[in-house]
Amino acid sequence: MKISIINGPNLNLVGVREPEIYGHKSMDDYLRELAARYPQVEFITFQSNHEGSIIDEIQRVGFDCQGIVLNAGAYTHTSIAIADAIRAVTAPVIEVHISDVQSREPYRRVSMIAPACREVIAGHGLDSYRMAVDSILKGGRQ
Ligand code: DQA
Repeated sequence: MKISIINGPNLNLVGVREPEIYGHKSMDDYLRELAARYPQVEFITFQSNHEGSIIDEIQRVGFDCQGIVLNAGAYTHTSIAIADAIRAVTAPVIEVHISDVQSREPYRRVSMIAPACREVIAGHGLDSYRMAVDSILKGGRQ
C-alpha cells in the first residue's frame, strides 16, 4: 500500500511560519510520526514551492499509489492546472489544510482543486493529514 503526501508552497516552513495558525511542530517531525503510526503504508513524501513540480509529482505517483494527500497551499485557491492534473490521474486525491480555510480570508474559501478531489479535510491542524490517510485506507467517500 503506497500513499503519496504532496505539500505545496511554504509548507516546508511549518513549525516556523505563522505558528499561531500552523502550530509549532515541523512538517518533517510530523511526517515521521505519521509514518511510524502506519507501518503497513509506504509513504512517498514530496514538497515543492513550484506549481509545475507539484503537477509533475501528481503525474508521477498518480497511477501507482492508493491515494494522494495533497496540501497545495496557496495554489489551492488559484490553480486550474493542478485541478486538471488531479483529474488526469487514477489515484483518489484528498485535499487537506492545516488551518480552517473557511473561517479565514474570503479568498481562502475558494478552492479550484476541491471539485477534482474526493474529499476536503481542513482545520484540524496537522491531524488533517492523519484523517486523510485514514480516509484513503477506509476507501473514503467515493
Ligand atoms: C494552507 C491554507 C492556504 O490558504 C495557505 O495558503 C497555506 C496553507 C493550510 O494548510 O492551512 O499555505 O493550505
